[in-house]
Amino acid sequence: MDPIIATRDLRKVYRLGRVEVPALRGVDLTVQEGEFVAVVGPSGCGKSTLLHVLGGLTSPSTGSVLVDGNDFTRMSDADRTRFRRHKIGFVFQRFNLLPTLTAQQNIAIAQHIQGNGFNPHRFQAIVEMLGLQEKLKRRPYALSGGEQQRVAIARAVICEPKILLADEPTGNLDSENSQVVLNMMRTLNRTFRQTILMITHNPEAAAVADRIIRMRDGRIISD
Ligand SMILES: Nc1ncnc2c1ncn2[C@@H]1O[C@H](COP(=O)(O)OP(=O)(O)OP(=O)(O)O)[C@@H](O)[C@H]1O
Ligand SMILES: [Mg+2]
Repeated sequence: MDPIIATRDLRKVYRLGRVEVPALRGVDLTVQEGEFVAVVGPSGCGKSTLLHVLGGLTSPSTGSVLVDGNDFTRMSDADRTRFRRHKIGFVFQRFNLLPTLTAQQNIAIAQHIQGNGFNPHRFQAIVEMLGLQEKLKRRPYALSGGEQQRVAIARAVICEPKILLADEPTGNLDSENSQVVLNMMRTLNRTFRQTILMITHNPEAAAVADRIIRMRDGRIISD
């Protein structure tokens, strides 16, 4: 079967005025559908950059990225945005919930943006799985960090993305809440065969994945 993610000699150089900052220095990565992959490595080694490139949020400088058979580098911005909305769920390290919306609205908004309208069955299934039934009417300030992170995960997966990209989803959580979020990721992976790439500094988090990719200085050093 074709891999869901395939990169070849992926490179990314950021430019800060005249200074060039190489963030990715030749990444070859293949991920099969249904895999749960943890990405680990020291600060600054290029983990977030890699996730942003895979999610179509940042363009690579050179190299190719195929996501579900589509080449981002050959798409227009509009096509890439549309593709991203339909195929990719992103969980950011900081939760990015909209503060004036309730948990329910924060989750459902992804379906509205995607344009397919509200799907109550999917909504119910995800909310129950993440244990958020009792919290739906609350706004983010009245939710714990772990609950906010679960809402962010619900929002990322509500539209049934082919790929879930999570940048340190347990980064701001205590160990109990981290465990809750990790169990959710595991369940999503097992129940829906959700493909997941998760950046983490947390050894417990890396341990729930099927596969661990170690990065250093913009490269993959072990897989
Ligand atoms: N927008 C940017 N402009 C210039 N340099 C950047 C930019 N974003 C990241 N970098 C640099 O690129 C390199 C990789 O950054 P990246 O954010 O991918 O690291 P990371 O592995 O996610 O680190 P952390 O674990 O601290 O989040 C670093 O040297 C960083 O300083
Ligand atoms: Mg990062």
